[in-house]
Amino acid sequence: MEISNYMREEHRSCDEAFAKAEQAASGGDFEEAFKHFETFMIDTLNHFAKEEEILFPAFEETTGSTEGPTQVMRYEHTQVRNLLEQLKEAIDAKDKDRFFSVADTLMILLQQHNMKEEQMLYAMCDRVMAAQAADLVEKMKER
Ligand SMILES: [Fe+2]
Ligand SMILES: [Fe+2]
Repeated sequence: MEISNYMREEHRSCDEAFAKAEQAASGGDFEEAFKHFETFMIDTLNHFAKEEEILFPAFEETTGSTEGPTQVMRYEHTQVRNLLEQLKEAIDAKDKDRFFSVADTLMILLQQHNMKEEQMLYAMCDRVMAAQAADLVEKMKER
């Protein structure tokens, strides 16, 4: 459970920052919204990097497969990155309608992505990489 616990905690803290950004935007405070969105964006991209550079390669090496769930997850990261850019543009333009429309799409995609990771991929990681879990988590903390 070591890998799941650590990764799930990161998902939660990203969710919190995003909720704060949405709350500020709904009150029309785009400066405040941007502050929280920036935290969300930096944390999310950092979390993706931990997965793409440390967790996924370790999983692929252990299972001998690069065409399974990690490939789907990498593809979804690309989609999320595009939406992050669009949301940033909406904030820069102080476009509230655009902000909430992109934010909705982003949140649905990210929630589904995170759920797949938590229910499938991280659970598999816990199972097949139990012996190296502590090392992997340590590496991700240092990233
Ligand atoms: Fe991911
Ligand atoms: Fe994740």
